[in-house]
Amino acid sequence: MFKEMPASKAYRLLESGPIVMVSTRATNGSDNLMTMGFHMMVQHEPALVGAIIGPWDHSHEALRRTGECVLAIPTVDLARIVVDVGNCSGSETDKFKRFGLTALPATDVRAPLVGECLANLECRVADTSLLDRYRLFILEVKRIWVDQDRKERRLIHHAGDGKFIVDGETIDLGDRMVRWQYLMD
Ligand SMILES: Cc1cc2nc3c(=O)[nH]c(=O)nc-3n(C[C@H](O)[C@H](O)[C@H](O)COP(=O)(O)O)c2cc1C
Repeated sequence: MFKEMPASKAYRLLESGPIVMVSTRATNGSDNLMTMGFHMMVQHEPALVGAIIGPWDHSHEALRRTGECVLAIPTVDLARIVVDVGNCSGSETDKFKRFGLTALPATDVRAPLVGECLANLECRVADTSLLDRYRLFILEVKRIWVDQDRKERRLIHHAGDGKFIVDGETIDLGDRMVRWQYLMD
């Protein structure tokens, strides 16, 4: 028996890609972080990611002006910090300092990597044609860094409104991906 739920709550079912933090460096040199759940892969090669970053976020202006950011992927041990990062503004606080996070130099962009995260994706804005309509930045991933030594590797997925799903069992059905072998290595 299906029970209807409001269409406006679609995000509770579809949002659950890993929560990420977006790192930016503004033109005045100040680094900032925000939390982002609304993102999706758009293309394999070059890798494009759609990111919804609202004009109410201090990060929006920095990303619009510099065209650069890092998508930092946290693990479950950072969950509380991730929520807190998404509940304060970089216009009032230095979030790296406040949350004890380490800004590390990236290679292709000025925005910093986040030392405590499992992975960092250096990105450049590739398309802003839907920015005014949907606040949608299309980002091209230029470089990816993954921490090989980190013990905790479970990602968290925002199920909406502060609830998170923690990574569980992985099942590998790669042998059935007969049409998509060229994507696998
Ligand atoms: C779990 C979670 C997910 C969020 N997802 C998004 C998102 O996808 N897009 C967005 O614009 N803001 C999102 N936010 C809100 C921003 O992270 C929040 O407005 C943040 O304070 C912005 O920081 P800034 O003003 O320093 O840029 C999210 C917040 C939380 C806690």
